Amino acid sequence: MTTIVTGGAGFIGSNFIFYMLKKHPEERIICVDKLTYAGNLSTLASVMDNPNFRFVKADICDESAIDQLFVEEHPDVVVNFAAESHVDRSIKDPNIFLQTNIMGTANLMNVARKYGVQRFHQVSTDEVYGDLPLDRPDLFFTEETPIHTSSPYSSSKAAADLLVLAYHRTYGLPVTISRCSNNYGSYQFPEKLIPLMFIDATENRPLPVYGEGLNVRDWLYVEDHCQAIDLILQNGRVGEVYNIGGHNEMRNIDIVKIICQTLGKPESLIEHVTDRKGHDRRYAIDPTKIHNELGWLPETNFKDGIAETLKWYQDNQDWWQQIINGDYQKYYEKMYANR
Ligand code: NAD
Ligand code: DAU
Repeated sequence: MTTIVTGGAGFIGSNFIFYMLKKHPEERIICVDKLTYAGNLSTLASVMDNPNFRFVKADICDESAIDQLFVEEHPDVVVNFAAESHVDRSIKDPNIFLQTNIMGTANLMNVARKYGVQRFHQVSTDEVYGDLPLDRPDLFFTEETPIHTSSPYSSSKAAADLLVLAYHRTYGLPVTISRCSNNYGSYQFPEKLIPLMFIDATENRPLPVYGEGLNVRDWLYVEDHCQAIDLILQNGRVGEVYNIGGHNEMRNIDIVKIICQTLGKPESLIEHVTDRKGHDRRYAIDPTKIHNELGWLPETNFKDGIAETLKWYQDNQDWWQQIINGDYQKYYEKMYANR
């Protein structure tokens, strides 16, 4: 079995590669990543010499590079994590989001159709459902919730989802889609809430909370997301969407306070800054379908997961320092200059 994992030098993709190489050591994993600012090849250092792993630097929008890879590797499965993933960047500059998230997904599916695959899995997000009001804790996103996006990022992911479903209906491409809530864990790029606040607090800088900090996110430990995708690949029904989330809703301000407490930093570092434009209020996933059909339940509770995550950032200062000083972008040249 050969699986192409796109975006595997990013946060969730890298955790998925580690998960799969450990769980299914007999399977071959090919990571395709363009190494944008969010891709960090040094994250994959521990698996680079694994004979069942190959890294290919390529853009998912590059038809001939993806075609060539299919000719070389005859993949059985494609799991598409590659995306521009940061909402704030999409608000500043939407175009690259449309290019990678929509056109890149279409390009991958065109090649997958040409050669045939057993499964094309699209890693999507709960943000395609828009948001829920803060005063209706009884409401959750199900797979039937209408698509209703807020940001250029979520709109580009929703467009990709619709294309994926269209390729199934029109061409019979064997697809599945997962829509997950906010992930946290090791190797998350420090533009996202938890690593950003960890680093700022560590360095005694102000902690920029958007607005009042009352927006709610439904946090899931990244390994639980990886396990859910693995189950969908094994037993998920083709043509179906699966929501992934662990009923762990937290207000942003409370997350930031936990980080302050854990690091022994004063809450006076918290600074309320201008709110994000179009800021989604609350995300909350109803994971009944994946639980009932595939038996999935999250294994890591938030208390343990956040402690583990913050410890990881404390123990892996080199990893995030290299991002802050830009050295991580030289890693590819170092590793591949003579290959
Ligand atoms: P990330 O930004 O950490 O990683 C994205 C990776 O994709 C990077 O390695 C980057 O180099 C690569 N990439 C970007 N454009 C590419 C291109 N054109 N060709 C090849 N590679 C390219 O993102 P993440 O947080 O790991 O998210 C991964 C996927 O999961 C995304 O599709 C995102 O929408 C989805 N998702 C994320 C979350 C979350 O909480 N982070 C939750 C649900 C779904
Ligand atoms: O729900 C899944 C989504 O979660 C994924 O699809 C996205 O790829 C991922 O980035 C994440 O989106 P969010 O916008 O929820 O994540 P972010 O870490 O950017 O922000 C989390 C919350 O924290 C959000 O309400 C905005 C707030 N925030 C964020 C930053 C970076 C702040 O208050 N201050 C900040 O500096």
